[in-house]
Amino acid sequence: MIPVSRPYFSVEEETAIVAALRSGWVTQGPRVAEFERAFAAALDQPEAVAASSCTAGLHLVLRALDVGRGDEVVVPSLSFIATANAVVHAGATPVFADVDLATYNLDPASVARALSRRTKAILLVHQVGLPADVAAFRRLARKARVRLVEDAACAIGSQVDGRPVGGDAHVAVFSFHPRKLVTTGEGGMIVTRDRRLAKRLRSLRHHGVSISDFARHAADRVVVEAYREVGYNYRMSDLQAAVGLVQLGRLHEIVARRIEQGERYDRAFAKHPTLAIPHVAPNVRFNYQTYLLRLLAGSRVTRDELMQRLLDQGIATRRGVMAAHREPAYRGQRRRVSLPATDEADRSAIVLPLYHSMTAAEQDRVIEAVLTLV
Ligand SMILES: Cc1ncc(COP(=O)(O)O)c(C=O)c1O
Repeated sequence: MIPVSRPYFSVEEETAIVAALRSGWVTQGPRVAEFERAFAAALDQPEAVAASSCTAGLHLVLRALDVGRGDEVVVPSLSFIATANAVVHAGATPVFADVDLATYNLDPASVARALSRRTKAILLVHQVGLPADVAAFRRLARKARVRLVEDAACAIGSQVDGRPVGGDAHVAVFSFHPRKLVTTGEGGMIVTRDRRLAKRLRSLRHHGVSISDFARHAADRVVVEAYREVGYNYRMSDLQAAVGLVQLGRLHEIVARRIEQGERYDRAFAKHPTLAIPHVAPNVRFNYQTYLLRLLAGSRVTRDELMQRLLDQGIATRRGVMAAHREPAYRGQRRRVSLPATDEADRSAIVLPLYHSMTAAEQDRVIEAVLTLV
């Protein structure tokens, strides 16, 4: 069976995790702090704050920006459901806007229509790792006087004009779920230019505490901590950070391989009359975290038929990015604009297998099977 995805680990991650275990410090501690410093440096951001997941990170950010009850946050419906869920966790209402079918990213015109007097923020997703047009949304957010938060869950290693996605963000959140290019099993990382925001995030992820466990432990005077507001346990563990540090050190190699593989799919499918490959603008480096292919009118099979026929041949796929407004959890949600591109992508997109250790022969098998069926 060719899987959709497979994490890439070596003996180095094993060594690092054993060393963390033997250190006796397994919750958030020195390795998390080191991972944060390394991540901030990689993103060229002054602050990085680790969390237990990207979802937790997004929730923390909304809470720290005082987004809550009575507020609206504009989000794409076409995203993993975590994007909308983070808004609901904060007590606010997600308002679904439509995407551009070429890049699967939010369409500024649709977002402009979704803004209201209650809008407090726009949650801009860099879908499947394809960078969204941040400049356009920054202008929109400034004009509407709302916050811009970037959901960069999938975008580690992607760039625009040579700058890393999230590198110039006021605040952006990454995921280390195993389908991502850098994984810690579960985990997330917030990057921000705003040091006060980072301070509040660090406190909120640990129940609103005034000083971290590790700092208290390392102090030579007794420190009694205070809990200043009601926060969460959204901490990353040092075991996860140990793995993350090794993975991050390999980012360059991981991205280079993924781009080589992604472009191989692009070349195979680009000229097919009923297939649409992801649109990669000339100034963009796409990390190809997820390879999304779309079936166009005239295809001999539906998306679901294609998935089944590929599975019959031992090739696993997934439906493309979900449309949250079509899921039972959000079906009652009326606050949205019309979503024709989202509905089209929801019907017609498929995720093909792509992972670091995938061989050329395995990729050829997938390419041949798809081209024979569509
Ligand atoms: C766009 C987007 N946002 C948020 C998440 C949630 O990430 P995590 O699983 O780390 O909470 C994902 C996960 O795939 C995602 O794709």
